[in-house]
Amino acid sequence: MKRAIITGIRRIGYHIARSLLTKDWSLGLVYKTSEEVFENLRNEFGQRVVGIKADLAKWEEAQRSVRELVSILGGLDALLHISSPYEPTPLEDLREEHLDFHFRPIAQAFMAMSKEAYPYMLKNTGDIKGRIVTFGDWATNTTPYRNYSAYFLAKGALHTAVKVLAKELAPHILVNAIALGPTLKPPDLPEEKWQDYINRTPLKRPVALEDVVNLTNLLLKVECMTGEIIMLDSGRHVAGECT
Ligand SMILES: NC(=O)c1ccc[n+]([C@@H]2O[C@H](COP(=O)([O-])OP(=O)(O)OC[C@H]3O[C@@H](n4cnc5c(N)ncnc54)[C@H](OP(=O)(O)O)[C@@H]3O)[C@@H](O)[C@H]2O)c1
Repeated sequence: MKRAIITGIRRIGYHIARSLLTKDWSLGLVYKTSEEVFENLRNEFGQRVVGIKADLAKWEEAQRSVRELVSILGGLDALLHISSPYEPTPLEDLREEHLDFHFRPIAQAFMAMSKEAYPYMLKNTGDIKGRIVTFGDWATNTTPYRNYSAYFLAKGALHTAVKVLAKELAPHILVNAIALGPTLKPPDLPEEKWQDYINRTPLKRPVALEDVVNLTNLLLKVECMTGEIIMLDSGRHVAGECT
């Protein structure tokens, strides 16, 4: 039985967790407000899933969550960092706390949790001892949306962290990311605007959850790829600029 920690289980993370639980994995889940999602998975899959409440905006809580979950799981094969706030921050109102609100749980927590996780992974046998996967955004760095500066600064740092950690943790730990395009509509986004996002993808459809789950599963098996950020975005990145 392999063991993974997953952060950010509210929506896409839930589907990934469910898929792994139907396979050969036991999971440690980190939630801030989605305790009910954890309880549902616990009821369905029993003791193969454990959970911990943590605010990943805090470095110490991010590291503590890894330590405590590993002690219950008995080791660690993979870390999947999915947590991410996504709030508009128009430049004229931008404040330091908006930057912290996004940067800390997105990029800082990724560094804190990876730093805490890799020594446990190195205890595993075999040439590949662990895998780290995170979730970026197709629009990061080259085509950010207007009014989302704090989010995109944090995702930019996350994309860089993937490359930094891939180098630092080679040759035994692989670090990769999936940069998603429109997959699940943010609850506050009007339906019309969401349809506009979809229409801008060359494939004219949202990213299928099945694709997200399958690609994540591949990244938990792949042996010869690290430092990669894969665009899973219905082709959105080849369609040109955002507004
Ligand atoms: N949905 C899309 O179409 C889309 C598009 C591009 C990229 N992505 C990326 O794909 C990933 C999943 O997206 P999603 O739509 O499933 O996300 P979501 O529903 O907005 O969920 C965000 C998750 O982040 C967690 N989180 C936020 N701040 C946290 C904090 N301070 N401490 C701990 N956890 C925190 C939340 O935990 P709790 O629920 O426990 O509070 C929640 O599970 C994200 O990285 C997102 O940026 C998604």
